[in-house]
Formats: sequence, C-alpha cells, structure tokens
Amino acid sequence: MHLSSRLPQGFEPNALTAALAQVKAEGREFLDLTVSNPSRCGFTYPEAELCAALSSPAGLAYDPDPLGSRTAREAIAAHHGHGLRADDLLLTASTSEAYGLLFKLLGDPGDEVLVPSPSYPLFHWLARLEGLNARSVPSYFHDRWHLDLGGLEAAVSTQTRAIVVVSPNNPTGHFLSRTEWQGLTELCASHGLALLVDEVFADYALEAPADRLETALADLDPPCPVFLLSGLSKVAALPMLKLGWVAVRGPGAGPHLEALAFLADQYLSVSAPVQAAAPTLLALAPGLREQVRLRLVANLFALDDALLPHPHLARLPVEGGWSALLRRPALDGDEACALRLLEATSTLVHPGSFFDLPGDGHLVLSLLTPEAVFREGLGRIFPLL
Ligand SMILES: Cc1ncc(COP(=O)(O)O)c(C=O)c1O
Repeated sequence: MHLSSRLPQGFEPNALTAALAQVKAEGREFLDLTVSNPSRCGFTYPEAELCAALSSPAGLAYDPDPLGSRTAREAIAAHHGHGLRADDLLLTASTSEAYGLLFKLLGDPGDEVLVPSPSYPLFHWLARLEGLNARSVPSYFHDRWHLDLGGLEAAVSTQTRAIVVVSPNNPTGHFLSRTEWQGLTELCASHGLALLVDEVFADYALEAPADRLETALADLDPPCPVFLLSGLSKVAALPMLKLGWVAVRGPGAGPHLEALAFLADQYLSVSAPVQAAAPTLLALAPGLREQVRLRLVANLFALDDALLPHPHLARLPVEGGWSALLRRPALDGDEACALRLLEATSTLVHPGSFFDLPGDGHLVLSLLTPEAVFREGLGRIFPLL
C-alpha cells in the first residue's frame, strides 16, 4: 500500500524513548526532569470554576464561525492588548494546528520556511506534513543567544516563504531583542516573506534583558505580514482544553484572514464549550501562571545551588520559558549521556541535540518539574557529569 512520502520512513522510537519505555515496562520508578505537561506537575487548578465554565449551556449551542466565536476572540484580544481586535484573530485547536493552517496558507509543495535553531523540534514535521521544508539556520550564543540575521538572509531562496521564530524560544529561552525584531521584519519585507512569531511562553520572562521585545504586537504597523501564535497550553497552563490562536498584522492582513477563515472552515475544529468558556479561562489564567512562575523561579534557584560544588558544570541564562540548558564537559555524546543517566540514576533529561543544540555539551532540564523531584534529580545526576 502506498503511503505519502510526507510521512517518516519508519516509526521506530529513538534510543532514549526506547530505554524509557523499557523502564516503564519494568515498573521502575524514575525522576522525570523533562516534564512539560503542566497538568502533571502538582499545580492547584481551580476545578470548580473551570468545570462551571466548561459546562455552561452556551457550550451546547452550535453556531460555528470559521474564525472562532466573537466572544472568545474578544477575550483573547483583551488578554493581549496592544490594540489587538477580535477581527484580527483566528482560533485553532492548538498552536500545532495553527502552524498547519499557516503553512497551507503560505506555501506550495516544495517551498520552504526558515527556522533559527536550536528550536522546537516539531517544526520539521509540521512543515513536512504540509509539503514544505523547514530549513534550520543556526543562532549563536555569545553571552546570550543571538539570531544570525546575515545567515537568515543568505539562506533565503526563491522558494522561501516565511521565517518562523519562537520568543522566548524553546528550549534556549531567548527573547527577540527589539533590534532583532527590526532586522527580521525588514528582512522579511525586503524578500516578500511572512514572519511567524510563536509567543506561547511570552508571559514567562525570567532573566530577560531590558532590550527584549515583550511581544510582536507592540509593533502596530510591521512592514511584513506577521502571524503571532499563542494558546491556552502555556498562557493558562491548560493544554488539555485545546485552544490556540493566530493574530494577524501587517500588509495583507485582511486577505490573509479571509483565506485563513476559508482553511479553518474545512475543519471547524475548535469545540463550542472551550470557546464559550474562554473569557472565564483567561480570567483564571493569571492565578495559574503565577503558580508556574513561582515553580520556575524556585527551580532556577535550586539549580544554581546544586551547581555550586560542580564548577565544571554551568547553566546558560534563562531569559524566559520553561527550560534550562545545562552545560557539561562533552566526554560522551549527549544522547549517550542521557541514556547513561537514565540507566544509572533513573533520572530522565533531554540531550540538547533533540533541539538541534550544536555539539554534545548541553542537556535540557524542565523547570516545570515539581521542586522536590528536581532537586533530587540534580543530586543524582551531577556526580555523573
Ligand atoms: C514553542 C512551542 N509552541 C507551541 C507549543 C504547543 O502548543 P499547543 O499545545 O497549543 O500546540 C509548544 C509546546 O511545548 C512549544 O514549545
């Protein structure tokens, strides 16, 4: 039977995933320092309010608008501010779905999008499944992360349609600076490219420099088409509710939204209950975000404390987001190192190469990990690094 060439050749898990499956199959306890699902991290969810919002009779009315219900879009526009209007927004079932729609909107099969790396590993497949190629352009670290704007410009070809940036980035935590924003938008404008900005982590600034771009929406009149992506997964720590969105700005915003509405109309994938609940969910979001923020700060503090007796180890600055990058002497490959740590200490960390970090000297830790688990895990792995 023929299967699309857009799919992977096989579905075998990588060595670390296979080793983890083995640990689980044997019923062995392990410490997960990679957890990114906030609903499994011991936060206190206001269950009664959430359930009341989700069980409102309004959620039983089916009156689909391809852009998403106006009430939900108004609440999201108010959450963002910066002059954003309900009419500038499209709702989706997730940020991943938003990427799929935007890649369908912007590219033809064989076209490409440029992605500064390291970054969120899903882009490769999200682009590929729409027939596009995601081409990595390495960013560089010099005291802090920097986009290689010259490298991005050199990589633009006749098939390039867009640049995709994440701010703050996953897993580097890098916030775009205002200078980088200006350079990026000018580059996109001069080459006829769209700019996709994933700001799912924008509310989680930690060691953020003063010159950071707080949000792309601060630019009311960008010179290129800008598509900002976000969603409840991170804004309200509610990934299970499946609500994301795209804000559209810049030249051609009207026709872009019209075409996105056509695309979304083929699926109508956002459920009525979550749209009806959106205003309440966003009103509850600051309380949830604060719990997450306190966890991130506590774990960063614990990490610095644990690093003190190990001067050969270090961490990179965490401008924002939910991850920290640990640097270690690259005496073995980073995937081999993660396997070794899992076997010897029953502690799971991610190798930097999973996110395209160069070389073998980085491990990725989730700062969302419950604090006691995080401290215990660091105590187990540091003597082996
Ligand atoms: C950069 C980035 N964008 C999007 C998402 C996922 O968002 P959603 O659950 O809305 O698909 C993640 C999840 O980790 C992420 O790291």
